[in-house]
Amino acid sequence: RGFSTSSLLLKDIKHVTVIGAGLMGSGIVQVAAQAKYNVTMIDTTDAALENGKNIISKSLKRVARKKFADDEAKQKQFIDETLQYVTLSKDIEEAAAKSDLIVEAIVENIDVKQKLFAQLDKVAPKDTIFCSNTSSLPVTQIAEATSDARKERFAGLHFFNPVPAMKLVEIVRTEKVSDEVYTDLADFTKKVGKTSVSCKDTPGFIVNRLLVPYMMEAMRVIDREEASIADVDTAMKLGAGMPMGPLELADFVGLDTMKFIVDGWEKAGSLDTPLKESQILNKLVKEGNLGRKSGKGFYDYS
Ligand code: CAA
Ligand code: NAD
Repeated sequence: RGFSTSSLLLKDIKHVTVIGAGLMGSGIVQVAAQAKYNVTMIDTTDAALENGKNIISKSLKRVARKKFADDEAKQKQFIDETLQYVTLSKDIEEAAAKSDLIVEAIVENIDVKQKLFAQLDKVAPKDTIFCSNTSSLPVTQIAEATSDARKERFAGLHFFNPVPAMKLVEIVRTEKVSDEVYTDLADFTKKVGKTSVSCKDTPGFIVNRLLVPYMMEAMRVIDREEASIADVDTAMKLGAGMPMGPLELADFVGLDTMKFIVDGWEKAGSLDTPLKESQILNKLVKEGNLGRKSGKGFYDYS
């Protein structure tokens, strides 16, 4: 690519739409708003949007207290100014029609994601960049739901939980995505205060390819009754320097999301060495104990 023209090919990202107001979507909305992007947060119900709004409010208070310690007026001003960049909506088509970048952060299910992107492809401008925050699904397969032209503007943009605190974003390059889109996403990532790494479209990319097997093995230690939940977490925190133990982390990620990841890989035969399922994970999810977000998982948060 010629030096003189490359900057002309970059897209000026002004309006961002994030679809899904859960743990991840709300975090992505927050960091985009903090970087002064106009951002629309979409979900299907008022209750889900309210949940996302609460997550953002709590987290912004935390950021504000750190940024402007002992100055409540400045904290309030920072929160109010940041929230001015955020719009809540259930109208996907209206938001998509004015978006330069759409980041999807809905349930980890290939059919649901494909259905959403097929709908978005019809209503978003031709040059809108599409991204999925999927943890484990092939980005190329999600993009199959869109036109050939869009596939050049479709990538994985994988943030980490909690988004405001975790400094990494994995940019997943499919075979089709253009270099310009990659550069735009690297630039966006930098502007929202994150460091990006580039990776191919492989199961779990870099982080989850390594992290998920480790967390699943921790659950299997519990299945085999080899140690207690608290002792597994203490061991990995104090013996391996992890900020959270693997079971505490699973609760933090969401046990439904953990199970979607593992079951999806099993169904698609994604890994050379398949992960064994965990009885305790299956049991907790069946009971509706999904971790921190539902109030109970390996631990009780009520
Ligand atoms: N909003 C804003 N800021 C937050 C925050 C939030 N929700 N949570 C933490 N922070 C900030 C704090 O303000 C603090 O900032 P400074 O260091 O600048 O003061 C910093 O993060 C550390 O927080 P604390 O000191 O309060 O607490 P901690 O030291 O216990 O850290 C943690 C909290 C950052 C969550 C830490 O426990 C941690 O790193 N845990 C592991 C998280 C992890 O592994 N995430 C990846 C999950 S896997 C994934 O996301 C991929 C997937 O696809 C499933
Ligand atoms: P979550 O359960 O907290 O939130 C998902 C949200 O999506 C819910 O508010 C739900 O109402 C909404 N939703 C579902 N279907 C929708 C649709 N068709 N249209 C609009 N909204 C819809 O989930 P999460 O933890 O935020 O995960 C979202 C995505 O991010 C998943 O793909 C997950 O694998 C990925 N991810 C999760 C983590 C994590 O630690 N939880 C980390 C990185 C990536």
